Amino acid sequence: MANLSVNFGNFTFNKVLLNASGVLCQDANDLDLLLANTHTGSLVTKSSTPTAREGNPLPRYFALSDQMGTINSSGLPNHGFQYYLDYVLANQFQTDKPLFFSIAGIAKQDNLDMLHKIQASDYIGLTELNLSCPNVPGKPQMAYDFHATATLLAEIFTFFTKPLGVKLPPYFDLAHFDEIANILNQYPLHFVNTINSIGNGLVIDPETDTVVIKPKEGFGGIGGKLVKATALANVRALRQRLKPEINIIGTGGVTTGRDVYDHILCGADLVAIGSTLSVEGISAFERIENELEQVMTDKGYETLDQCRNQLNIIE
Ligand code: FUM
Repeated sequence: MANLSVNFGNFTFNKVLLNASGVLCQDANDLDLLLANTHTGSLVTKSSTPTAREGNPLPRYFALSDQMGTINSSGLPNHGFQYYLDYVLANQFQTDKPLFFSIAGIAKQDNLDMLHKIQASDYIGLTELNLSCPNVPGKPQMAYDFHATATLLAEIFTFFTKPLGVKLPPYFDLAHFDEIANILNQYPLHFVNTINSIGNGLVIDPETDTVVIKPKEGFGGIGGKLVKATALANVRALRQRLKPEINIIGTGGVTTGRDVYDHILCGADLVAIGSTLSVEGISAFERIENELEQVMTDKGYETLDQCRNQLNIIE
C-alpha cells in the first residue's frame, strides 16, 4: 500500500487530501466529520470574516450535469471569526491532523485585525489568508491587485510569526505567475493554496434561457472538472517559481485519484477537494484515496515524494 504521508514544513500530514474551504466546513458538525474521516489529512475551515455573514441570496450554487463542475456565488456565509477560532482551539490537541484556519477579510483592516487576534491566541496550526474570493459584490479579488497584495503582506509580516499561507485565484498569463511569485518569495510564507474557483463564470439553463444562480446576475466561481487544466497550470507554474520552502496545496478539478496524482506531478504537496465533495459527499475521500493508491501502485511508486514534481515535458 502506498504511503500517503506529507511533510509540509514543520508539519506532517498522514494523508494527502483535505477539503477546499467553502465545502463541508461551515459548521462544527461538518468540521467534525472531516476531522473524524480516516481519509483526510487535514481540514480547512470556511473562510471567516470578523463577524458572521449570511452570504448572497439563494440560489447561489449549481452543479452542472455529468459532473462537469459547479458554479457558486456564496458570498462568504460564515459564523464569524470567533466561532472558527474557538473550533480550532478546542480541537487542535484532540487530533493528529494539523489544522488550517481560513480567513477572508472584506477589507484590508479586517485581515490585519483577524491576524493580530490569531497571533495573540493559543492557536498553533496553520492560517490560510484567502485573497481570492470572487463572490462579494463590489469587491474585487485582492490577489489580482499585485501592489495591494505586496503592501498587505509587508504589513502582516511586521507582527505575524505563525505559519501562514495565502489562497490564490487562478492566473492566466506567465507574466502574472512571475509577478505574484516574485512578491510571495519575499516573505516567510508557509504555503500557497492554488486555485480558488475561476471567478465570474456564467452558466445558462437551456430550458429557461436563465442564469442558474441569483447573485451578481448569474456570475459565479467555477469549480470541478472544468477547471482542472487551469489548476494544474497554476500548481506547476508556481512550483517552478516559488522558493522550495513555500509548500503548495493544489486545489481544483479533482474528481478522481488520477487528478490528485496529476496535481502531485505538477508539484502539489497536499491536494484539496471542493466541487466533488459538494456533489458526492464525504465518501469521495475514500474513493479518491483508493484510486490514487492504485495509480501509484501501477506506476511503481511507494511514496508521494517519489512522484512529486516528476512531470515530463516534450523536449
Ligand atoms: O462565495 C464564497 O463564499 C467563496 C469564497 C471563496 O471562493 O473563497
